[in-house]
Amino acid sequence: MALRSPSETPRAGLSTPTETELLALVRTQPVPQHVAIIMDGNGRWATRRGLPRVAGHREGVKTARAIVRAAGDLGLRYLTLYAFSTENWSRPEDEVSMLMKLLEEAIYRELPELMERNVRLRVIGRANGVPVPIRRGIDRVVEATRHNTGLHLLMAFNYGGRDELIDAFRTLARRVAAGDLKPDDISEADVSGALYTAETPDPDLLIRTSGEMRVSNFLLWQIAYTELWITSTLWPDFHPVDLYRAVADFQGRTRRFGGV
Ligand code: FPP
Repeated sequence: MALRSPSETPRAGLSTPTETELLALVRTQPVPQHVAIIMDGNGRWATRRGLPRVAGHREGVKTARAIVRAAGDLGLRYLTLYAFSTENWSRPEDEVSMLMKLLEEAIYRELPELMERNVRLRVIGRANGVPVPIRRGIDRVVEATRHNTGLHLLMAFNYGGRDELIDAFRTLARRVAAGDLKPDDISEADVSGALYTAETPDPDLLIRTSGEMRVSNFLLWQIAYTELWITSTLWPDFHPVDLYRAVADFQGRTRRFGGV
C-alpha cells in the first residue's frame, strides 16, 4: 500500500489508506518508543474562524485527548506534549490565565480515562512561577497516576530547554562541589540523568504542527538525533491519522546517529 505524506495530493490510481488501515499497517513494524509534539496553531485556527484565541486552545485540548488515545493504540511508550513554554508568559495576561486554567481543568477531567487507560502523567518544567492552585491540581493527577504502567505522558509545562540545561548544570555543579563527581568524569549519562526527563529515552520523532521550521527551545539536549516531521496542519485540525502518517514516514527513514 502506498502511503503519502499530508502535504502530497493523492495521485490517480492510488487510494489513501483509512485511519484504521494505516494504524494496522504501522503496527506491523516497530513504532518509535518516544514521540514529542510541539502543538502549534491554536491561535491561528481560532482567528481564521473569527473566534477568540481561547476557542482554539479549547479545540487544542480535544486534539490532545485524541492524540493521547491514538498514542496508546499505537503502543508508544512515551509521548511528550509541549503545553506551555517559559516564553508563553509574554502573551496577554488574560490568555495566560485562561490557558493555565484550561490545562489544569483538562488534566483533572481526564483523570478517570488516564486511569482506565493505565497512563502515567509526568510534568517537565520549572515548578517555580506556576500559580500554586494550578500546580496543586496538576500534581494531584501526577500523584494519582504514579503507579500506572502504560503510556508515559510527559507534559512540558512552564518548560524551557535552556532553563532545563541550566538546572541540570546546577545539579551537576552541586555534585562536583560535594565531591561526588569529578569534572572530567561528567558523561552524557550524567547530563541526561540531571534533566527533567531523567530515565526517559530521547525522542525518536519530533512532530511540529502549523508549519514553523524551528524547535522553539524544546528538549534541546534530547533531540540531538531525533527525526523531525513538520506539517502545515494546525494543531486543532491534527487527527490520529496524521500521527499515524508521521510514524509511517518515520518507519521508512534510516537513522544513522551521525554514522554512515
Ligand atoms: C499553540 O498554539 C498552543 C499552545 C502553546 C497552548 C497549549 C496547548 C493546548 C491548549 C493543547 C492542549 C494540551 C494539553 C496537554 C491538554 P498557539 O497559541 O501558539 O497558536 P498560534 O501559533 O497560531 O498563535
